Amino acid sequence: MTKETQQVEAIKNGSVIDHIPANVGIKVLKLFQMHKTNQRVTIGLNLPSSALGAKDLIKIENVFISPEQANQLALYAPNATVNQIENYEVVKKLTLSLPERINAIFKCPNTNCITHNEPVDSSFSVSAKKQDVQLKCKYCEKVFSREIVTERH
Ligand code: CTP
Ligand code: ZN
Repeated sequence: MTKETQQVEAIKNGSVIDHIPANVGIKVLKLFQMHKTNQRVTIGLNLPSSALGAKDLIKIENVFISPEQANQLALYAPNATVNQIENYEVVKKLTLSLPERINAIFKCPNTNCITHNEPVDSSFSVSAKKQDVQLKCKYCEKVFSREIVTERH
């Protein structure tokens, strides 16, 4: 990428989460508590993107996101790329695939679920038939669509 098209300042070391759908960047930042760090975090919202029209982007300095952590984002930003930057170079580019489980990210949509009254982390198994993603709560065993979860949180 040339300097002229760099929309948010380049970082020396860390992670760049790119191609987040517009309006999902803040949600991802908060859900995954990316702002709760002492490292410098820069975000770009509604940046022009040839592929998406508009996109959000998050850069976290000196933090390296593992493939497992990256995949936890897939429910919210399936087409995101997680770039690892070392000494200003992109040394690794991860594309995301849905994880088998999502733990402790969002609350169970079932208000009667035991997890609302007990000090336990939420836990969902993830299954996908083509584009149709389903999340099953480990505790109440109810099944929810991707939309039910992502539109509430
Ligand atoms: N980036 C950065 N700091 C660097 C190098 C890259 O913040 N030192 C950012 C770029 O701005 C871009 C992302 O990391 O948002 C990926 O960089 P690069 O692979 O060079 O960009 P593209 O080729 O546009 O990536 P893609 O093909 O994934 O769209
Ligand atoms: Zn539940």
